[in-house]
Amino acid sequence: MAKIVVENKINNFNQVISVDGDKSISIRSLLIGSQSYGICKIDNLPKSDDIISTILGLRKLGVKILIKGKSCSIYGKGLNSFDFKKNIIINAGNSGTFARLLLGLLIKTPNLIKIIGDKSLSRRDFQRVTLPLREFGASFYNNGSAKLPLKILGSEYVRPINYFEQKGSAQCKSSVMLAALNSPGTTIIKAKKSRDHTEKFFKYLKLPINIIRNKNFDTIKIKGECQFKSFKYNIPGDISSSAFFIVITLLSSNSKLKIKDVNINPSRIGFIKIANKMGAKIKILNKRIKHGEAIGDVFVKSQSKLKAIDCPSSLNSNAIDEFLIIFLLASKASGVSNFTNLNELNKKESPRLKLGSKILNKMGVKTIQKNGSLKIFGNPKLSIENDITVKNFYKDHRIFMTSVIAALCFGGKWIIHDVDSYKSSFPSFLKLLKKIGSKYTLI
Ligand code: S3P
Repeated sequence: MAKIVVENKINNFNQVISVDGDKSISIRSLLIGSQSYGICKIDNLPKSDDIISTILGLRKLGVKILIKGKSCSIYGKGLNSFDFKKNIIINAGNSGTFARLLLGLLIKTPNLIKIIGDKSLSRRDFQRVTLPLREFGASFYNNGSAKLPLKILGSEYVRPINYFEQKGSAQCKSSVMLAALNSPGTTIIKAKKSRDHTEKFFKYLKLPINIIRNKNFDTIKIKGECQFKSFKYNIPGDISSSAFFIVITLLSSNSKLKIKDVNINPSRIGFIKIANKMGAKIKILNKRIKHGEAIGDVFVKSQSKLKAIDCPSSLNSNAIDEFLIIFLLASKASGVSNFTNLNELNKKESPRLKLGSKILNKMGVKTIQKNGSLKIFGNPKLSIENDITVKNFYKDHRIFMTSVIAALCFGGKWIIHDVDSYKSSFPSFLKLLKKIGSKYTLI
């Protein structure tokens, strides 16, 4: 697979961009659309590898999906309407979200369905979803391992469950919420706070869902077996993709950036809160609500005076995909930043806490990493002179993109392997970097 060479810092820029559609919402729109009655129209769907895996997986289950540019039509045939043929194998590729959420929709399959994934996905934990899905009545076969490949066999007699989600994982919560759609009676979920796109989607579709919000936990009640009609949805820009462009602007000099039509769901903007606590002055204007989700335009300017943060772990779940890029801000901040309770980060597409810390060390930044926490000794004058190679990172898209941003902001000569990895979530990443004036070579 190709490598990228970056050996020039980015010059100042003043630009307006739009990033690709949000990955979490896109996957939900496809999965929920497959359970609706009628033809759903989804616009601004990103052509990323995770979305392609979702579409191909649903087609294997007999769902007709037509794609035209960034628009897509899903021909829904109602709840539990998949064509559960014998010997179906679904390749979820790199997508934990697709694999884990899909399992929730398979709790009634009369034939075994095998789920496989790439090397990175095959090292991730699936017990976190198979345990609650077993309670509904599904069975799993994976040679005693908690990982992929695994096979699911559904039950004719599924029952609603009471489930306590304690990790702050939206994937676990959403997998159970999707299973609840196909279960009789009322499923009750007590869930630690995490992104709430599935809840918002159910509300947008007027499904029978009731949510009681408390400080740390939500109680979600879903009445199952209620058919719903097809819908239209326009996917907003991805805040997690935007974060790379916000950070490159903050860390370069005399630059300004506007990112249009970004999803700013409060459960996703922990990154903006953390960056602003560190002295960034990120603003969100033109706020509005579409399909129940908050959207806005993000404005950011370079900020030469960033300060260290003792990051409240209550923000962890709302910034879970942005920590690598936050670590770059901490590297340039004055003082020692402290991040705690981040064990979940080592369970992502790669062990991100470990690898993130290693990359900072290669950049000459001192870190102390232990027991799920990371201390970063920031240096406001950080400038890299040496050569840095980044490889063997499980093709983790966010490690790749973070490394490219570090190279463009701090200098040095960087060779970063596995270029194609960024396509898993953010296919326009390199094109947009070029638009704002970055120079790089693919070899
Ligand atoms: C996601 C939830 C998060 C996040 C992932 C997408 C989702 O994972 O890291 O990229 O769409 O629900 P967890 O729920 O496992 O924390």
